[in-house]
Amino acid sequence: MIMTGTTESTSGGFGGQWTIEKLDILERYLDAYTTALKNQPFKLVYIDAFAGTGGISIRSADDDAQSFIDGSAKLAIEIDAKPFDKLIFVEKDTRRYNRLATLRSENPNRDITTINSDANSFLSSLQEDWRIWRGVLFLDPFATEVEWGTIEKIANLNALDTWILFPISAITRMLPRSKNPDDISDAWANRLTRIFGDESWRGLYRASPQQSLFGDESYQRDPGTEGISSIYRVKLRSLFGTRVMETSRTLMNSKNSPLFEFVFCAGHPSGAAIAKRIAKHILDAMG
Ligand SMILES: C[S@@+](CC[C@H](N)C(=O)[O-])C[C@H]1O[C@@H](n2cnc3c(N)ncnc32)[C@H](O)[C@@H]1O
Repeated sequence: MIMTGTTESTSGGFGGQWTIEKLDILERYLDAYTTALKNQPFKLVYIDAFAGTGGISIRSADDDAQSFIDGSAKLAIEIDAKPFDKLIFVEKDTRRYNRLATLRSENPNRDITTINSDANSFLSSLQEDWRIWRGVLFLDPFATEVEWGTIEKIANLNALDTWILFPISAITRMLPRSKNPDDISDAWANRLTRIFGDESWRGLYRASPQQSLFGDESYQRDPGTEGISSIYRVKLRSLFGTRVMETSRTLMNSKNSPLFEFVFCAGHPSGAAIAKRIAKHILDAMG
């Protein structure tokens, strides 16, 4: 991973070790992907739907020291085994977008499109000739911005290997402390439904048979990280089938609390086995 001295924080906050980890996984996958498809007849596109600025500020948990690393968009430009034929970077925040857009003038020989838009709207209108194109999509939101309709659209394209940062921590904070799934504001219930595509998230707190035995109607079971991401995985399987990789990576903050589940779904069914093998190999190698 390349360290630079010129980029600012993308978020106003700072990335941590987990940021380095996710970008390391992405970079390794992009490298392996372009190498694997080097002699195939397809044109290759990389789509970064939450692209940031191209750079990230990282703060060390030990001594608060700050360093700068390349963000996902820059990493994708720098893949050179077989460079992507086209790179599409989407960023909603105009200030960040303006910095992102400089990547075009800095790389005049590359086919880079930058789009100042909401990722979901952009992806819902994505059109390519998928007989010719294959690619990788990176969904790296701050929190709960990825909508289920977007995932449905991507799954149906059968063309984009997709890495999704599923926001466990943000979802945990939205779930009612009373553990009663009905004890939640309409706004948050709607948001959860937009993430999961239906109300399956309400099943996170089912009363156990033991509790019913004593006539206690309260919802006591804590779904934990595993429960939240397993419901999402079931939903993903309903769209991608066996293209969903069973292994995923839980990204932790400096206090060892889960932030995101990093999940991989392969694009085209005929390439899914090898894509999942590559992705699993990368995750396994990280220990
Ligand atoms: C975690 S950061 C992405 C970091 C980036 N992948 C990198 O490695 O540098 C999330 C980015 O998504 C942007 N964003 C938030 N909501 C968005 C949306 N609905 N559509 C597109 N971009 C959005 C934020 O402004 C932020 O720059």
